[in-house]
Amino acid sequence: MDIFEAQERIAILTEELNRHNYLYYVKAAPVISDYDFDMKLKELEALEKEFPQLADPNSPTKRVGGDITKKFPVAEHRFPMLSLDNTYNEEELFDFDRRVRETLQEVEIEYVCELKIDGAAISLLYEKGRLVRAVTRGDGTKGDDITANVRTVNSIPLTLMGSGWPDLFEMRGEIFMPSPVFLAINEAIRAELEDKGLHEDEITDKLLKNPRNAAAGTLKQQDSKAVAARKLDCFVYGMLGDNLPFSSHFENLEQSAVWGFKINPFARRVKGISEVLHFIHEWETRRNTLDYETDGIVIKVNNYGFQRSLGFTAKSPRWATAFKYKPQNEATVLLSVSYQVGRTGAVTPVANLKPVQLAGTTVKRASLHNADIISQLDLHEGDTVFVEKGGEIIPKITGVDISKRQPGAKPVHFIQNCPECQTALVRAEGEAAYYCPNEKGCPPIILGKLIHFVSKKALDINTLGEKTLEELLKSGFIKNPADLYILRAEQVLSMEGYKELSAKNILEGIEASKSIPFERVLFGLGIRYVGETVAKKLAFAFHNLEALSAAGIEELASVEEIGIRIAESVKEWFGNEENRLLCQRLKSYGVQFTLDESKLQKMSTKLEGKTFVISGVFSRVSRDELKKIIEQNGGKSTSGVTKKTDYLLAGDKPGPDKVKKAESLGVPLLSEDSFFALIGQ
Ligand code: IVH
Repeated sequence: MDIFEAQERIAILTEELNRHNYLYYVKAAPVISDYDFDMKLKELEALEKEFPQLADPNSPTKRVGGDITKKFPVAEHRFPMLSLDNTYNEEELFDFDRRVRETLQEVEIEYVCELKIDGAAISLLYEKGRLVRAVTRGDGTKGDDITANVRTVNSIPLTLMGSGWPDLFEMRGEIFMPSPVFLAINEAIRAELEDKGLHEDEITDKLLKNPRNAAAGTLKQQDSKAVAARKLDCFVYGMLGDNLPFSSHFENLEQSAVWGFKINPFARRVKGISEVLHFIHEWETRRNTLDYETDGIVIKVNNYGFQRSLGFTAKSPRWATAFKYKPQNEATVLLSVSYQVGRTGAVTPVANLKPVQLAGTTVKRASLHNADIISQLDLHEGDTVFVEKGGEIIPKITGVDISKRQPGAKPVHFIQNCPECQTALVRAEGEAAYYCPNEKGCPPIILGKLIHFVSKKALDINTLGEKTLEELLKSGFIKNPADLYILRAEQVLSMEGYKELSAKNILEGIEASKSIPFERVLFGLGIRYVGETVAKKLAFAFHNLEALSAAGIEELASVEEIGIRIAESVKEWFGNEENRLLCQRLKSYGVQFTLDESKLQKMSTKLEGKTFVISGVFSRVSRDELKKIIEQNGGKSTSGVTKKTDYLLAGDKPGPDKVKKAESLGVPLLSEDSFFALIGQ
């Protein structure tokens, strides 16, 4: 294919991909399969690689990310990005309407009511129908240029559809994280931290706090691929510039939708403040049915002429206001507090509540996190408590209605003994959580450890479900993971409801787990803070049980990404005689405690299929070592730059010929730091 043919094909593919992207993300009505879309995208990627001079910063291939921004350049806003004045009740809203009518000397105003989307404000600048700049609100006069990251937001058009847009104009909007995405990310974070054996408090600390923070935080990520992965979305809510198509807000919004922008479908033009109130009342509960967060309603005077007459205060326009809904808070009665014992022995209090409707769901339980929270709330039995929906799935108790407290009600005291095995609970220095120290004897701890041991990412014995483990435990056939490997068919058969076939399956599943690699066995042991990744790092660094269990804290902490806290936890675990015995037994039954050496050769597949040319002097490692690292991560290094080269890995003073050749072929130059960032080091 020559360059002219390529140019034509690129134009066709770009147009098609933009249209399908629009149909999928803006209209939610795709007409081709994901597979067909990917094929077109791959074809475009290949053409752009072959003809780098034809690559376009607004190509649909930019949607998947890949650009790294170390520091976002500061950009001045062409028009200040103001905030809105807030109103919290109907009286304040009537005042707003009265001021507007008095200034304009009008009897009734046409307003536009919009949902106030809870995300991060963005200014999108379009020149000749193409996105040229995306800037955060910042301090209102200047913000961060986050264009590369914003290009990954699929509902923001990179090139506009149709015609008739001004040569230069700006769209303002709200980038947000849809609630299902937010919840899924938090669930994934939770699962990972639970795997590491972290306590509820530590987990809550690390979760995304709310969709707004999540959106704003995501947009400031250096790696635009990470932004793309987070599936942000965007509604535009305003147009700015000269020669706009209409002289009113709503009509311009509708026009922007024709150009490919996503506008919120619930925005309405209404007459007078009574219709505004109607809209506000309607959405007070209806907003709970949406899959994004709204914290109020924005009311705007529709006519631009009127907007101009009303003008601005120093901070906000006089032609608009935000009506804020009160936080969703309900009162209900505390029925009891129950305590759950996790696999680490941590005891988490949970409030059982009289069921109450909150933000569209029925709430029966609320997390109390730890003993400190209970005393801070000064919780008493039978108290009337306020529950509030936060960023988490389980709501939290925000306060107590003391006026409703029954005389003589007893304060809730955190239990002193384990609810399961009655052992006295302990609290570690500086920690909020209480633990049951009876690790080897407390049923939920033992069961929790066994469940973790057989879980998919660990020994993956899927023929052993939670119920079976519980029964085996109750029957006294097993007490720890090692006992599984001496389990006999007769023992399983002696339990009610187990037949030949299930016994056979269970034993086969256990047998098969003997080929599970060392790093996953290590993860399965459930050492505190040793999650999947840490287990892998330790296995690759120490190769076998003997070296790992003998390692001192310093040696452990010298492994990349292993901090003191993890090192101490590992050292302590192996310092325990019973744990060492457990490993010895597992090993003697054939469970893997040595790293599969062939894995040492290949650490990851991050560079699979990528070809590098190395040139120049490097500060962290030698060129030979770099070569080895590339190969260990699945890549290749060659000597000359060709169009097959993916990167020129350039250190200090790279060969000028190589640089020139790379530039002419559009082969990107990669610095030493970026290279290590690429392989995640
Ligand atoms: S209009 C002059 N409309 O709310 C300000 N803002 O303080 C014009 N927001 O951070 C803003 N949804 O990003 C407008 N439909 C909407 C909105 C909206 C959310 C955000 C905006 C700003 C804050 C207002």
